[in-house]
Amino acid sequence: MNAGIVNVGIIGFGTVGSGTAKILIENAVLIRRRTGADVRLKRIADLDVTRDRGIKLAPGVLVPDANAVLNDPEIGVVVELMGGIHPALEFIKSALKNGKHVVTANKQLLAEKGAEIFALAREKNRVVAFEAAVAGGIPIIKVLRESLSCNNILSIHGIINGTSNYILTKMTREGMSFQDALKEAQRLGYAEANPAFDIEGVDTAHKLTLLASLAFGIPLSFDRVYKEGITRITAEDILYASELGYKIKLLAVTKVVDGGIELRVHPTMIPEDFLIARVDGVLNAVMVTGDYVGETMYYGRGAGDMPTGSAVVSDIIDIATGRQTAGSCGIAAPDGEKFAIRDMKDVVSMYYFRFSAIDKPGVLSRISGVLGSHNISISAVIQKERREGEAVPVVVLTHKAREEDVVEAVGEIDKLNVVSENTRFIRVEGKE
Ligand code: HSE
Repeated sequence: MNAGIVNVGIIGFGTVGSGTAKILIENAVLIRRRTGADVRLKRIADLDVTRDRGIKLAPGVLVPDANAVLNDPEIGVVVELMGGIHPALEFIKSALKNGKHVVTANKQLLAEKGAEIFALAREKNRVVAFEAAVAGGIPIIKVLRESLSCNNILSIHGIINGTSNYILTKMTREGMSFQDALKEAQRLGYAEANPAFDIEGVDTAHKLTLLASLAFGIPLSFDRVYKEGITRITAEDILYASELGYKIKLLAVTKVVDGGIELRVHPTMIPEDFLIARVDGVLNAVMVTGDYVGETMYYGRGAGDMPTGSAVVSDIIDIATGRQTAGSCGIAAPDGEKFAIRDMKDVVSMYYFRFSAIDKPGVLSRISGVLGSHNISISAVIQKERREGEAVPVVVLTHKAREEDVVEAVGEIDKLNVVSENTRFIRVEGKE
């Protein structure tokens, strides 16, 4: 498509839909001057046509029926901002079949059904652009697809769920309870419609799926991502982590190890002097390491109406100016796999354990005996409380160990009669 008049139809007038509409209306002149693209917001479809979003629309722009967008021959770009799988999938397919380019922020849909969508886009020679699907306003998709395209990507580490980061930050800084922090994040509009997606690591896994496909040329592999959320992180763990010089973050990790790809999302203890450990609140950050460029980091707002709207509009402009073309999406076709995905059991990491151990002589040697018999070497032990004959927390940090050994050791330790509750463990990043 040459830069000229581009009519846009949005489906979904919620948080991101409102941000997108606002930018298109308020910055229309700037966009035209800077890019040559005359982007016009022709229609918005949403079931709720009465709620005041604080945006002045011309009469007839807001309609309740998505078909008024999908079947309008003048609309060249359909922007899907409703979220969820159905009917977003059907709407996007119908838009592509009608010859329209698609922009979407829907990470769940792309991570779970992307193979189908991108295949149709290829067949119809149309663009499916998705900058807003990962890390809101941070242009990380463009970085992987374009800016670092001459590098072999070695690893990506990301804080890419604002809600979880906000919750962990509130718990760390203000001692706020998990539930109160979650409510606050929901009130501010950061959380997904289903907040379990945020706190159970699912939203992060959706985004990691897209990043890994772009970085390594593997097919979308959402089902292969190891997912563990933040719901079992306690104030006690946060306190211990802080005393040991670490922050707890929900980290998305994908990297090449022994010719395979790790895909994992879990709470992680990160040394507090690492740049990424300082990314707090709703902010996101993605660290990408390439073989030539080395370590790079991208930081910004990962959620919210205007930052995410900014990413959506940048995609619309890219389509309008021909910067994104049908062949440039960067997501591998299903037969594109070059690497095997590694099992979580083979991951090697340092670990933090919190045991509930009976406070009496010989208990620590039994626990460390089990760890030793599974090839797990201890680097530090803390027992602060003293309650003779009762359960007290005993915190252990380890050198690098294999996940499978850790899981087996914990299973054995939890059966010891000197251990009163299930052991908690958190993976630890940093230098040994
Ligand atoms: N629920 C997401 C988050 C919104 O908290 O980051 C942006 O994808």
